[in-house]
Amino acid sequence: MEKLVVTGPTPLKGEVTINGAKNAAVAILPATLLIDGSCTIENLPNISDVKISCQILESLGAKITWIDSHTITVDSTNISTTKAPLDLTSKFRASYYVIGAMLSRMGEVEVGMPGGCKLGARPIDQHIKGFEALGAEVEVAKGKIHAKADKLVGNSVYMDIVSVGATINVMLSAVLAEGTTIIDNAAKEPHIVDVANFLNTMGADIRGAGTDMIKINGVEKLAGGATYSVVPDQIEAGTFMLAAVATKGDLVLKNCITKHLESITAKILEVGGKVEDYGDSIRVYCDKRPKKASIKTLPYPGFPTDLQPQMGVVLSIADGTSTINESIWESRFQYTDELNKMGAKITAQGKSAFFEGVEKLYGAPVCSTDLRAGAALIIAGVAAEGVTEIYNLEHIDRGYEDIEGRFRAIGANIKRVVED
Ligand code: EPZ
Repeated sequence: MEKLVVTGPTPLKGEVTINGAKNAAVAILPATLLIDGSCTIENLPNISDVKISCQILESLGAKITWIDSHTITVDSTNISTTKAPLDLTSKFRASYYVIGAMLSRMGEVEVGMPGGCKLGARPIDQHIKGFEALGAEVEVAKGKIHAKADKLVGNSVYMDIVSVGATINVMLSAVLAEGTTIIDNAAKEPHIVDVANFLNTMGADIRGAGTDMIKINGVEKLAGGATYSVVPDQIEAGTFMLAAVATKGDLVLKNCITKHLESITAKILEVGGKVEDYGDSIRVYCDKRPKKASIKTLPYPGFPTDLQPQMGVVLSIADGTSTINESIWESRFQYTDELNKMGAKITAQGKSAFFEGVEKLYGAPVCSTDLRAGAALIIAGVAAEGVTEIYNLEHIDRGYEDIEGRFRAIGANIKRVVED
């Protein structure tokens, strides 16, 4: 079993280059199935979710050539089957994008129920609502999803709940449909805009991505032949921004889009941190104990739920009592039990958590309960006095490339150890 051993406290200082966005990459990769040809994708994060996505594409008949660890060429000319391997698709959440892409490309698909972080029920009713609105028949049984459509015809789809996955999936199923599809009450995250930009680069006709109404005019085919670079990761950038505040450090993040970070910047200023915005890079520093704050997670452009645990570390050592209201997921406070093992005083009740700020955290053995909780525990370990051992690293490796190497490069005393 592997664990991360972190010794603190250490102020994180230096430069970090932000990678391509995981939640854009895991949607753009299945989107290549729409292309009757080849395309090249750059700035992919080197993480296990990307590797699994590539394995799924290859299992369907796509040919993938790795140009380097962040660049691939995908040739989706010959898709040979409509059944994705259940063992792969059940490994992570984003496998459901194969449904929208394969409905468009082949008119039929079978995948395992998606896996992913345990954050609550994680239903897919809005995805299915969209597929059925465009004329597909969808059956969910025995842990599998089977979808079939003789022809996809554009329609209007109102999302009953703002959903990143459903917005992208309906977009994927509408690109080659006959006629126009309108997605109303659409999610507006940067990764949704990135998927739309990728598809338009390949010849799709998608307008309004990034607003709550997206219009997709169906086209005959996507010819491919272009190269696309994945958008910088808003959540990875936010993770390092909050790490700078929690450790009283000073970090410059390169290769980010600061417009995507406005809600995080606002909260960092509120707790007493300093931010210098350089457009495609950003400096975050803090030389004193954070002040208390109230956080409510919301769909973009609100404060991202995927930065909630990382913000929780800052609030656990803030001066005063803070609150977090998690409006997206029913169960995203599991990390607070782990922080309490490190001396935090957090009470989580349903979708709210109350943080009675303590002067400092102390190192302890803790478990990563999901991807972003894992990142939060690393931040806590760097800020804490003493040694923290972090288990269940598979969660972290799904979404953060070389996490220990990148923290070490900015001063953290952190190493990955194999334990018998
Ligand atoms: C995406 O998950 C992200 N994952 C999540 O990031 C992120 O937390 C989430 O969006 C919100 O931003 C990927 O992009 C791979 P949703 P997704 O559909 O698409 C409810 C990470 O750490 N809902 O926007 O699954 C749902 O239960 C991960 O990178 C329905 O009710 O999230 C939730 O309450 C964790 N029916 C809310 O909508 C549906 O059909 C938002 O979910 C779909 C969703």
